[in-house]
Amino acid sequence: EKIIFSGAQPTGSLTLGNYIGAIQNWKALEMDYQCLYSIVDLHSLTIRHNPEEFNNTCLSFLVQYLACGLDPEKNIIFFQSNVPQHAELSWILNCFTYLGELNRMTQFKEKSEKNKDNINAGLFTYPALQAADILLYQTNIVPVGEDQKQHLELTRDIALRFNSAYGETFTVPEHYIPKVGAKIMSLQEPDKKMSKSDENTNGTIFLMDSEDDIVKKIKRAVTDTENKVIYSDNQAGIKNLITIYSTLGNYSIKEVEAMFEDKGYGALKKQLAELLVESLKPFKIKYEEYMNNLDYVTTVYKRGAQRATEMAEETMKDVRNKLGLIAK
Ligand code: TYM
Repeated sequence: EKIIFSGAQPTGSLTLGNYIGAIQNWKALEMDYQCLYSIVDLHSLTIRHNPEEFNNTCLSFLVQYLACGLDPEKNIIFFQSNVPQHAELSWILNCFTYLGELNRMTQFKEKSEKNKDNINAGLFTYPALQAADILLYQTNIVPVGEDQKQHLELTRDIALRFNSAYGETFTVPEHYIPKVGAKIMSLQEPDKKMSKSDENTNGTIFLMDSEDDIVKKIKRAVTDTENKVIYSDNQAGIKNLITIYSTLGNYSIKEVEAMFEDKGYGALKKQLAELLVESLKPFKIKYEEYMNNLDYVTTVYKRGAQRATEMAEETMKDVRNKLGLIAK
């Protein structure tokens, strides 16, 4: 059976970009594969947090995963820090990752540009921890958005490097990036990706946003003066809105263009806001339901951690053995 692994960093709250670029596909894969979906809390430690707030954010992320419809009976849903093998393998893979490779990571460059007073070593070696997440489970497929492609290529290189030095140990994973929606853009700056941590929250739709906020944000979305609903690189704002409409409503791009052929941007925005509000209704209901049943939520992540640990330990035994570490 094929293994799927993916995760999101618990910072702020899930965005429409996370949903369309990744989680929608996580859900689609759960029927046919053994999927592990993690809240990668250790990755979030590269920025400073108030511990109490962080604890709430982590729990809320797990509930948001469930509210997106991920089946807690089928999937292994867990917190990364609950499975210490991630940190263990991360150290080992650090020793198989070159500075030159890490230096080329665009996400590191962007993040250190944004946060000049805290460029810590964790931020730099972040991709080795991500490689550990994936390789621990002998993952075949990693469903992610476009921005993770570079990290996945590095993961493959690290796996191949280890395998060629010590013999077949890790499955070399493939990425799974959707054809449409792999990079949802900011509603305010459509040349920038929509991000959890954008200071301009008008550019980002959060799954937790109120209906009013969603309608307002779509209304204010930056467009252009063409007033033609055409999917074109010259109309980045409109291209983004068409993409969102198409992925959420399950229409092809051509169908969306046809729907709004004789209509202007106002009509597109109005219908898109309605589609978003409708699409997020079940999410909101489920979120409340799970929040009112935290005992169940706790059993989900505890069981998740247990199942993940068993799988991870199997790989780690092999890794320690291959490296010549003494068994306890
Ligand atoms: P993160 O938390 O930034 O994002 C989670 C997932 O959402 C996708 N995504 C987007 N897709 C389309 N448009 C956007 N605007 C957009 N923004 C985010 C991301 O590509 C990602 O799939 N390093 C990862 C977390 C991670 C991970 C892993 C992922 C750690 N270990 C192992 C996969 C496998 C990250 O920061 O994702």
